[in-house]
Amino acid sequence: MALFPRCLLRGVTSQVKNINGLQASPKFMYKSARYNSNTSGVRERTLIAVKPDGVHRRLIGQIIQRFEMRGFQLVGLKMLRVSEELLSQHYTSLCKKPFYPSLLHYMTSGPVVAMVWEGHNVVRSSRMLVGDTNPTQALPGTIRGDFSVHISRNVIHASDSVEVAQKEIALWFQSSELIEWECCDHDNLYEF
Ligand code: PPS
Repeated sequence: MALFPRCLLRGVTSQVKNINGLQASPKFMYKSARYNSNTSGVRERTLIAVKPDGVHRRLIGQIIQRFEMRGFQLVGLKMLRVSEELLSQHYTSLCKKPFYPSLLHYMTSGPVVAMVWEGHNVVRSSRMLVGDTNPTQALPGTIRGDFSVHISRNVIHASDSVEVAQKEIALWFQSSELIEWECCDHDNLYEF
C-alpha cells in the first residue's frame, strides 16, 4: 500500500474503501474510481507501427516525440520482425490488391517498432498527426508529410478506427505487454 503511487489514489481512498463489504485492493479501487467518474474516453487506444523504412532512417525517436508532445501516453512498445502470418491478418482486406506482394516484402524487410498509445480521441488524432496515407497528399507538419514521398514507403502505420484499433492491438500485443498506468500530468491534460 505504501508503495502504490499517490497520484493514482488521489481522491479515491476516501470514496471507495469497502465494496460489497469487502476490502478493495488499491488496484481495484483505482480502476473503479476511474471507470465510475466518466474517464473512459481518455482510455482510447491505438496501434502505431514505425515501418521498416522509418526504422532504417532512424525516425523512431522523432515519431515517439510527436505523440508525447501531443499529450498521448505510451502503454506498449516493442521492436519485432513481423511474420507474414501476422501481416496477412493485419492487412487481410488488402490481399487482393496488386501491391500486396510488395507490401509484404517491404514490411518483412526489416524490424518494425510497434506501439500502443492511449488518450482522448487518440485514434482520430493519430491519423491527423500521421497524415494522409499517400505522402503526396500528406500535409507538411504531419509525419508522412515531413518524412516521406511515396506511398510504398510511408514510414508509419496508424489504426483507422476505434474498432480496427482494438483488433490490431489484440493481434500485435499480448495483454501482458500493455502497461496500465496514469501519467502524473493527467490533471493538466484533462478536466475529469
Ligand atoms: S486501399 O487500396 O485504398 O485499400 O489502400 P489504402 O487504404 O490507401 O492503404 C492501405 C495500406 O496499404 C498501403 N499501401 C501500399 N503499400 C505499398 N505499396 C503501395 N503501392 C501501397 N498502396 C497502399 C498503405 O500504406 C496502407 O498501409 P498502412 O499500414 O495501413 O498505412
